[in-house]
Amino acid sequence: MSFHKLSLLVFGLLANCFLCAHVVHVDRFVFTVDVQDLFVSQSAFLEQEYNRSYFSGHIMINRPINELTLLSSMDILRPPRPEMRLYNVKLNFCSIFNNGYKNKFIKMMYNNYADFLNTKPKCPLKANYNYTLTRAYIDEALLPDLLPECTYRMKMAFQHKSKLLAHMQVDGRLLVKHFRP
Ligand SMILES: *[C@@H]1O[C@H](CO)[C@@H](O)[C@H](O)[C@H]1NC(C)=O
Ligand SMILES: *[C@@H]1O[C@H](CO)[C@@H](O)[C@H](O)[C@H]1NC(C)=O
Repeated sequence: MSFHKLSLLVFGLLANCFLCAHVVHVDRFVFTVDVQDLFVSQSAFLEQEYNRSYFSGHIMINRPINELTLLSSMDILRPPRPEMRLYNVKLNFCSIFNNGYKNKFIKMMYNNYADFLNTKPKCPLKANYNYTLTRAYIDEALLPDLLPECTYRMKMAFQHKSKLLAHMQVDGRLLVKHFRP
């Protein structure tokens, strides 16, 4: 599914469900380095608090990177039903930073996560700079209201000229809480 279709899904389903809300729980957040000699230092960790899971971490690379491709997908699992793919995209990461995408959904996602970073990244990514993500969370307001309770798996792979540099995976649960007026 393209980001365009996903944004239609997200915005199309905002027929607001006033009496229910999603709680996004993250159970696992893993960042894996695939090119060892590029990373000077990196970390990734999760904090659980009340209704939210926060993920934090940092990366530091030893040479500038001026071309980066992001492959990302998100699947919803509700056994015994078949997995449902919410989206699967390939984006030019530098174009996201440099505001090259006109797509509202991409801008919204980017602005959402950029708030948790210590700097607005620009390409080329700098060598020996500590890019830090602090207490980022998945904003439940960005999810389509009609998503069912499920577990989800979100993957991101970072590539330079089709060479895999690093990848991450977030696994969690989406809970729907109903309120009685
Ligand atoms: C947790 O969520 C419930 C329902 O949305 C809300 O009433 C409560 O205040 C939240 N608690 C915290 C600590 O955010
Ligand atoms: C980068 O910043 C994070 C968060 O402040 C810190 O935990 C980490 O030690 C720093 N790493 C380096 C190599 O400076």
